Amino acid sequence: MDLFAWLLWTIIIVLVVSVILFVVNKLRPPKGMQDFSGKVVLITGASSGVGMALARKFAGMGSKLVLVARRGEVLETLKAELNRPDGDVLLVPTDIGDPTGLETVVKQAESKFGHLDVLINNAGIVDTEPLDNLTAERVLAIITTNLVAPINLTRLALPLLRKPKQAAIVNVSSTVGLTLVPRQATYGASKAGLNGFTDAMRRELHGTGISVSMVSPGLVNTPMLAGEKNREEVLQMLKDTGLGFPGVRLDEAHEVADQIIKAIKYQKREIILGGWMFGLLSLMGRHTPTALDAMYMQMFKADGLQDNVVGKE
Ligand SMILES: NC(=O)c1ccc[n+]([C@@H]2O[C@H](COP(=O)([O-])OP(=O)(O)OC[C@H]3O[C@@H](n4cnc5c(N)ncnc54)[C@H](OP(=O)(O)O)[C@@H]3O)[C@@H](O)[C@H]2O)c1
Repeated sequence: MDLFAWLLWTIIIVLVVSVILFVVNKLRPPKGMQDFSGKVVLITGASSGVGMALARKFAGMGSKLVLVARRGEVLETLKAELNRPDGDVLLVPTDIGDPTGLETVVKQAESKFGHLDVLINNAGIVDTEPLDNLTAERVLAIITTNLVAPINLTRLALPLLRKPKQAAIVNVSSTVGLTLVPRQATYGASKAGLNGFTDAMRRELHGTGISVSMVSPGLVNTPMLAGEKNREEVLQMLKDTGLGFPGVRLDEAHEVADQIIKAIKYQKREIILGGWMFGLLSLMGRHTPTALDAMYMQMFKADGLQDNVVGKE
């Protein structure tokens, strides 16, 4: 067989297998939790962005909520907006980097609701500086908030998650954890670590009724990426900084929340968001790292996206 025929057959086989897998995946009935009414859902980082959108979605489906973040006054305002019966929403204002704070979260959740159905490790902070601009305290805060806290909260919450027949853990990671970009080395390391933790826990909890999913957003219009900018301004910022090309999508927080809910319903192992470009970059990182290095040198040149990410805290 000549090279052309070999290539053609390879492409045909890959296409046919992809179509079959796509159809099988679409026809697969959802195995996870379907009805969230009355379910107890713990969300970290509920005072902003994706976490706040999740709180609104689950409240709309009649779930009971345990909402965690440092800014208690923002959680209070959110609780008033959610308009749920008082007994259905527990606020625990705490720094998740503090192990005793996490113990308080789980103890209060247990005494109020007795068990947990869903744990969403969503809270996160980011770095956008070259590594030698970061202080040791900032490095520690990023790793602690994004990686150590989700591990410890999962550890403490497991006894409550084992009580119902079916439960779910979702770890909100980032495409940066898959594609590892410059000037986010600490953030990327924390998210890559979270991905490893997620994989290991999915295997460790296999057969227990607790599903474990990873959802990796790409670019989300929240205070972390955009501060107080509106969607048009953020899109312009992406364009100006070289990220406004096909395959890169700006998601809204409520769209990411929908994908997190889908991850629970379908017991998804992994959902990568932000457009097909992030899937491609992640594949390039694995198989053609030199080409990815060259691409990043262009994408993350001085005065690029990192300088414009305002919500660094
Ligand atoms: N926005 C994006 O483009 C993007 C892209 C990829 C991945 N992600 C990931 O998506 C998740 C949600 O991010 P977001 O965009 O919604 O960010 P955000 O709007 O900045 O919200 C972050 C949340 O985390 C909470 N938080 C931070 N540090 C905390 C701590 N030590 N203790 C307790 N709570 C803490 C914040 O609450 P307090 O300040 O009140 O504590 C806030 O509620 C994060 O894990 C992030 O890494 C975001």
